[in-house]
Amino acid sequence: MTPDANKNGYRTVARGGLWGWINQRLPVDVFWRSQLSEYYAPKNFNIWYFFGSLALLVLVLQLVTGIFLTMFYKVGAATSFDSVEFIMREVRYGWLIRYLHSAGASAFFIVVYLHMYRALLYGSYKAPRELLWLFGMIIYLALMAEAFLGYVLPWGNMSFWAATVIINLFGTIPGIGPGLVEWIRGDYGIADATLNRFFSLHVVAVPLVLLLLVALHLVALHEVGSNNPDGVEIKDKKDARGRPLDGIPFHPYYTVKDIVGVCVFLTLLAIVVFFVPTFGDLFLEKANFEPANPLSTPDPISPSWYFTPYYAILRAVPDQRIGALLMLIAVVSFFFLPWLDRSPVRSMRYRGWISRTFLALFTISFLALMYLGLQPAQEPYVTMARIFAVPYFAFFWLMPFYSRIDAVKPVPERVTFHG
Ligand code: HEM
Repeated sequence: MTPDANKNGYRTVARGGLWGWINQRLPVDVFWRSQLSEYYAPKNFNIWYFFGSLALLVLVLQLVTGIFLTMFYKVGAATSFDSVEFIMREVRYGWLIRYLHSAGASAFFIVVYLHMYRALLYGSYKAPRELLWLFGMIIYLALMAEAFLGYVLPWGNMSFWAATVIINLFGTIPGIGPGLVEWIRGDYGIADATLNRFFSLHVVAVPLVLLLLVALHLVALHEVGSNNPDGVEIKDKKDARGRPLDGIPFHPYYTVKDIVGVCVFLTLLAIVVFFVPTFGDLFLEKANFEPANPLSTPDPISPSWYFTPYYAILRAVPDQRIGALLMLIAVVSFFFLPWLDRSPVRSMRYRGWISRTFLALFTISFLALMYLGLQPAQEPYVTMARIFAVPYFAFFWLMPFYSRIDAVKPVPERVTFHG
């Protein structure tokens, strides 16, 4: 075997046999080297860096369990609910597949929220990673759409009413609102036509979009390289062979490290699926074990926990139009972070007390709003939601000011690493 360089400058190994034959026709070796064994990642990754690979794992888990569910699920207002019951009771290991898929949906959001939070901690959205962040945000929107569409499919009573509330929100758009609502539903109310289109979107369209976006997310990541807990650019300091001094090959170092994260994650998921699959009404609500009933409203109607921070903001305003607009702004604000943040440093490690306080208040408000969105729309919850919405929005929209005036600590030239 003689190492030499291919046209992209990556060392290739001239080999014969089947492997050589494949590599002359498909750049498997080159891909492996450029993206894994000779892709240098910062050596100071910590626990927060587990969640990207875990998000990939959950994506695969959802696709595989989803394929098996589709083998027995029968879409239709007259058949959906019963087919899910059939899966739970009659299909061999159907309960396992269904609970993995429903708990997997919540796990997806836990993992993605922690993954996003890491970016807030270490300023990973700042230049040159803006596009990586934007792809992440579009993934987040697609994920929300996917979760909402999937929630309607069992055609339980919460499915029906969640669909009613969410689709009616489009009615608040001036002018086209009412027509748009009818167009989305495909009927004068939530009906069989709605369920059928939601099925096709949930099973085909949105997963394809998600896969494409995740691919773009990873290409964008590998183009600029990972950030790290110090927010120091490792590409700035290279050895004579052009390798970052603070970088280590992704494979085998991080592939092996990620396996530890995968084991812990799968253990926790197994505990949930086997012992607390509904997670006290949070992962699957009681109301969804009853068939859809247009004459009986669940009390309270609340979306899944991962939507409730935004839902609390929606309900905090008496005028539904303004509530819907604020809810939209609450989600869309994340998109602007790379341009709102004017701090000269990336990581919270080297920022002053003002940025840290705003991030802490944002964290508390997000969790508080999550709790409040799960409560009935009555006092004191509504007033509390109004109070917590203030630091939530202040975090984003005062950022251009506080991030500029906040004192910063000197950033080290190299990453800090205690092996
Ligand atoms: C299906 C969902 C997602 C998958 C599979 C995914 C995958 C990944 C992977 C594998 C990494 C590299 C490992 C790591 O840094 O943890 C990464 C990095 C990153 N992702 Fe995601 N991601 C997803 C969603 C998101 C979302 C929703 C956002 C933000 C809105 C986001 C923002 C980022 C950022 C900023 C980085 C770079 C972090 C750094 O270098 O410090 N990702 N992603």
